Amino acid sequence: MESQEAAGELVAGAIRELITAKPDAVLGLATGSTPLPVYQALAKSFAADPIDVSRVRGFALDEYVGLPPGHPESYRAVITRDVVEPLGLTPENIHVPNGDPATIRTAGDDYERAIIAAGGVDIQILGIGRTGHLGFNEPGSSFGSTTRIKTLTEKTRADNARFFDSPDDVPMHCITQGLGTILRARHLVVLAFGESKADAIAAAVEGPMTASQPGSAIQLHPHVTVIVDAAAASKLANLAYYKHAWAHKAPWEGI
Ligand code: GLP
Repeated sequence: MESQEAAGELVAGAIRELITAKPDAVLGLATGSTPLPVYQALAKSFAADPIDVSRVRGFALDEYVGLPPGHPESYRAVITRDVVEPLGLTPENIHVPNGDPATIRTAGDDYERAIIAAGGVDIQILGIGRTGHLGFNEPGSSFGSTTRIKTLTEKTRADNARFFDSPDDVPMHCITQGLGTILRARHLVVLAFGESKADAIAAAVEGPMTASQPGSAIQLHPHVTVIVDAAAASKLANLAYYKHAWAHKAPWEGI
């Protein structure tokens, strides 16, 4: 895409269409900087032409373990600030894995049950980390994994240090939907912008399928949309073909 704004509008259009057809749609929500243009475009679209979103449900991908309740950088707080409030969603309908150490041993299974009880995720928004992680599935994550505790790599902790007062404040552990959980969503939308994501995108889209590149799990999914800018696309070997397919995309294809 030519801009992050255009990418955001494209995905927001697909989400709006989904909610219009299914008012209690289940959205898979991602944190990080990458999905922000999607949430901003959706908020704009709802403000300009409101639709009923009171029954929309949502599941976040991941959460830090051990941050005090209400910490501004907990993903619960981030999802509330960046998604629930600007979009006017019903807070009780939006789920985030529980990172409380006291209940962490059962939190993963509880989360899996909640996703299944909701009927599964209709559209899963995904960013990708420089280590190739989806959610917080760091290299070595099984393609069959479900929601569980992971230890963050030092690279990911360093990347996320910008949100904390000091790099040491970034938690060591997280709870994340597994790659197996993510693969059960009915439509995956992977977004990536900037040169720093070019290797992870090339590995995810064209590399061998391997737990060492968690993003490559998307190659197993029947419906994936990868939305990148020129810099994030710069290491794709088949780029000319993808551009050709995009240029000839029929209006009935959807994204
Ligand atoms: C974070 C999140 C991921 C996100 C990734 C990239 O740590 N757990 O869900 O996709 O890292 O973040 P950003 O979009 O800010 O580059």
